[in-house]
Amino acid sequence: MLENKTVLLGVTGGIAAYKAVEIASRLRKQGAIVKTIMTASAQELVQPRLFQEITGNPVSTSMWAEIPNLQTKHIALAQEADCLLIAPATANIIGKIASGIADDMLSTTVVALPDTTPRYIAPAMNTQMYKNKVVQENLRRLKDLGWHIITPATGRLACGAEGLGRLPEPVDIVNVLQDMEETREADLQGKKVLVTAGGTREAIDPVRYIGNHSSGKMGYALAKAAQLRGAEVVLVTAPTNLPVPHGVEVVAIETAEELRQAVLKYYPEQDIVVMAAAVADYRVKVQSDKKIKKDAEELQLTLVKNTDILRELGEKKTKQILVGFAAETHNLTAYAKEKLQKKNLDFIVANDVTKPGAGFGSDTNIVQIIRPEAVQNIPKMSKEALADLIFDEIAKI
Ligand code: CTP
Repeated sequence: MLENKTVLLGVTGGIAAYKAVEIASRLRKQGAIVKTIMTASAQELVQPRLFQEITGNPVSTSMWAEIPNLQTKHIALAQEADCLLIAPATANIIGKIASGIADDMLSTTVVALPDTTPRYIAPAMNTQMYKNKVVQENLRRLKDLGWHIITPATGRLACGAEGLGRLPEPVDIVNVLQDMEETREADLQGKKVLVTAGGTREAIDPVRYIGNHSSGKMGYALAKAAQLRGAEVVLVTAPTNLPVPHGVEVVAIETAEELRQAVLKYYPEQDIVVMAAAVADYRVKVQSDKKIKKDAEELQLTLVKNTDILRELGEKKTKQILVGFAAETHNLTAYAKEKLQKKNLDFIVANDVTKPGAGFGSDTNIVQIIRPEAVQNIPKMSKEALADLIFDEIAKI
């Protein structure tokens, strides 16, 4: 199913670039949201405007071009993509990807693409170029890195010769994409999943709050992973700078109590709840309705405890699979085990937030997955890959 999937279409400067117009059109007809990135050479062959008209979306043509409605373009595009297709792919882009070169919009977006995003590449070039040992070696490398190579067809090439290297027909390329996307795991089809994300904020006065360093990345990755696996997903999120994951119902909250109310409202019908939010344990007892002036040398705030939402969910648990996170700075396993038991969880994902490459704001995480009977050490991996791994563990339950 390509319906409502965001497909990034990378077009490079092969003669077959014109066929990418038909690919874009066919993807659109399948219901996909198509965002095109063209290299400079591709723009010598086909006008970006054509892709813009066909896809109904702005076309990215340069790292530096002003494109309305896009933020940090390569990062935003990479994050919102459900899959990437490069068609046609020249020997040049294949070489760049194989070597990790990021010197234009397309190659930079490729480097920024989360590890778990499916990626397809359709090489098209003269037979001799295609058979070139370095090109073949680069393609092998791409394959090892998880790229799906759409093998070129044999036929008449732009150079006049007959041979291997022709871009397959657009209909065949779109079929490959459709089949692959359909067979991707949909093990959460029909399941309702609620994920919480980000750090809650407790107001002190109208301009200040008590917060924490949570970026929301882990929760957003979890919501996206569940959605891609076919679940109906609600994401209850504290303020973050992250783009809203596609196809997910988003409930915006600020305080722990707002988060609690939102979660309790959805809880009875959920099959799976993953609490990735960093919830403030305390709130200010009396919020000032006016800005506090800095008159006094010392200022005392009285804090009162917030409800432990996860513990409450654990007590109210009927059919739900409950997964919590534990952010620790010391005694990781012991503290996390205690939370697992106290909150009546199926498992807890424990991370030492002081480790480089783990915890708040990082793109990666290093965790332990702790069940009542076992502790599993998970090596450092991207938050997207970890999100998938967490749902693999949930699927086992
Ligand atoms: N949590 C919650 N409600 C709270 C505090 C935490 O639901 N008021 C959830 C978090 O979303 C997380 C888990 O409980 O999934 C553990 O959070 P953590 O901050 O690591 O632990 P706490 O229970 O708050 O204990 P402490 O702060 O003493 O380590």
